[in-house]
Amino acid sequence: MKVQLNDFSMAYEDTGRGHPILFIHGYPLGRRIFDAQLRGLLGVARVIVPDLRGHGDSSAPASGYSIAQYADDCLALLDSRSVTEPVVLCGLSMGGYVCFDILRRHADRVAGLVLLGSRASADTPEQRAARDADAELVRGEGVAPIVEKMLPRLLTPAGQNKPKVVELVRRTMEMTSVAGMVGDLGAMRDRPDSRPDLPRLGKPTIVIHGREDPLIPLSEAEATARAVPGGDLKVIDAAGHLAGVEQPTAVNQAITAFYKKVWAH
Ligand code: MLT
Repeated sequence: MKVQLNDFSMAYEDTGRGHPILFIHGYPLGRRIFDAQLRGLLGVARVIVPDLRGHGDSSAPASGYSIAQYADDCLALLDSRSVTEPVVLCGLSMGGYVCFDILRRHADRVAGLVLLGSRASADTPEQRAARDADAELVRGEGVAPIVEKMLPRLLTPAGQNKPKVVELVRRTMEMTSVAGMVGDLGAMRDRPDSRPDLPRLGKPTIVIHGREDPLIPLSEAEATARAVPGGDLKVIDAAGHLAGVEQPTAVNQAITAFYKKVWAH
């Protein structure tokens, strides 16, 4: 499905019944990366999954690529779907950075937070420089070099040997536009440090992280979970950065248990 929001057309899924969960994908991905969560949570919740601007089947406007704009786009989608109740946010990696922004500015829209393969810290100066170098590469050569570079960072060696897994991840990345990829890189480079927010997040929170994540070390996830009062940590064995793709059953179980706890009272 698609909806015209401000300056672009946003593609999304909205399926299932119950209190909503909003999934926000990471870089340089799209909504398809949550296919297994969509299937696994169908009988549990109303699942809403957008393609951010410049990604997947959404259109790619020339501007508006920032974490705050991604957050506004997601909330505009909820408005367009008449979702007024607070939702469980599930942010994958960069999607987690978007969740922190929503929590800072619109905490009333949030019932709970699932951080999937994400972190609260900002980029280091070295990481910022690497974002700029990657953006130059994408501007010059298109998205293909980043797709090749990211694959081994997203999956475990075992995952990289599973053709269906590789195909899904590769295809999802290839659907990202140049504007979307360059936009993500600038958005991530400029994101603030969300660690000061953690002690006063005030929402039920679970941090779900692949034990073998080469992109964001498990220690970051452990620190995040520790800093949120009452924060839970679920470590997923035999999973890299995309635990929901490599170990969908374990991830879906963790999300389902968390969701039920949020709405238990
Ligand atoms: C992501 O998976 O969204 C990004 O790779 C995270 C990052 O680079 O900080």
